[in-house]
Amino acid sequence: MRTLSNRTAGFTDSVIRRMTRISAKYNAVNLSQGFPDFEPPKEITDRLAEVAKEGPHQYAVTWGAQNFREALAKKQEHFSGMSVDPNSEIVVTCGSTEAMMAAMMSVTNPGDKVVIFSPFYENYGADTILSGAEPIYVPLNPPEFHFDPEVLEDAFRQGAKALILCNPSNPCGKVFTREELELIASLAIKYDTYVITDEVYEHIIYEPYKHTYLATLPGMRERTIECSSLSKTYSITGWRLGYVIAPPEIIDRVKKVHDFLTVGAAAPLMEAAVVGLNFPDSYYADLQAHYTHMKNLFVDGLKNIGLNFTDPQGAYYVLVDISEFGYKCDLEFCEDLARKVGVGAVPGSSFFKEDVNHLVRLHFAKKDETLNEALDRLSEIRKKMVK
Ligand SMILES: Cc1ncc(COP(=O)(O)O)c(C=O)c1O
Repeated sequence: MRTLSNRTAGFTDSVIRRMTRISAKYNAVNLSQGFPDFEPPKEITDRLAEVAKEGPHQYAVTWGAQNFREALAKKQEHFSGMSVDPNSEIVVTCGSTEAMMAAMMSVTNPGDKVVIFSPFYENYGADTILSGAEPIYVPLNPPEFHFDPEVLEDAFRQGAKALILCNPSNPCGKVFTREELELIASLAIKYDTYVITDEVYEHIIYEPYKHTYLATLPGMRERTIECSSLSKTYSITGWRLGYVIAPPEIIDRVKKVHDFLTVGAAAPLMEAAVVGLNFPDSYYADLQAHYTHMKNLFVDGLKNIGLNFTDPQGAYYVLVDISEFGYKCDLEFCEDLARKVGVGAVPGSSFFKEDVNHLVRLHFAKKDETLNEALDRLSEIRKKMVK
């Protein structure tokens, strides 16, 4: 048989999704893959039931149903203060996952360099490989996850075509400050670089932190390709609804890439989700309050157990320091944690370019009873995990 593609030969299966399978095998409380175990808003699922009868059931316009784009433009304008033309500045995609891939393929040529902060969301490595680009990693240094401006400028100096910015960050929970974003913006302008943002956690932020949309900074609108999705904001990760917002010349290209990748997002799901996009401000305040409650419950529990961890500013993950357990390999630690303690976690090494083996990621987008059960099990961690 002829060999399969060189480009994808190095792909392993996603560590995150592998940990979900391992969690299921050991009946562990799965805090690895980031999705809620609570229901989406009832208004959205009720509307889905109506749409099941009424339709639409056929292809929508490939770049997204008109009413969805209009509702999305209005919502994004409301939160960012930046005007968005629903006809020329939005492409609706199958999740932010496709949005990022379409953005990368629209911007980069094989061999182009792309700056990625480390730790990073797992998919960015694959996005660069599939689009033929070469990553340049810039460390976000724990425990504060600050970056060194000199190191960042060095990366830009290597001729980077784009930078990927995950804000708020998965896995480290960092919310980039306005000053940090201004610095990134000044470098992007100086070196004529695009910025592809992944803002799926834009509405999951903890006081006193605030989300700043990079595209709203002076000079950034024309070079920012904003990717985000409805997955986290409306607890509908399985609906696969995401989007790209960018200036018309870029969106024109993204539309074409998206058309050939997937044709379009699911028409009935777009129709039902419009209800969510039209929610009043109180929905987002309640969402923030709910996540603040889950975060407090979880981090207080971890504190009581005496574990060291990063307290996130946004998103819904904590990185727990496992140095005390004496494992050389964090994957082995996670397998043991699922088997012996009954909690599913993701090895931190899958998020870092640097050799980091002492962190594991847990998420807390779960019902109180799930989090309490996980904390109960984790309270035995020192008894069960000593090597
Ligand atoms: C940073 C980040 N980007 C993208 C995604 C995937 O988003 P979507 O469901 O919209 O494809 C996730 C999911 O966990 C994520 O954490």
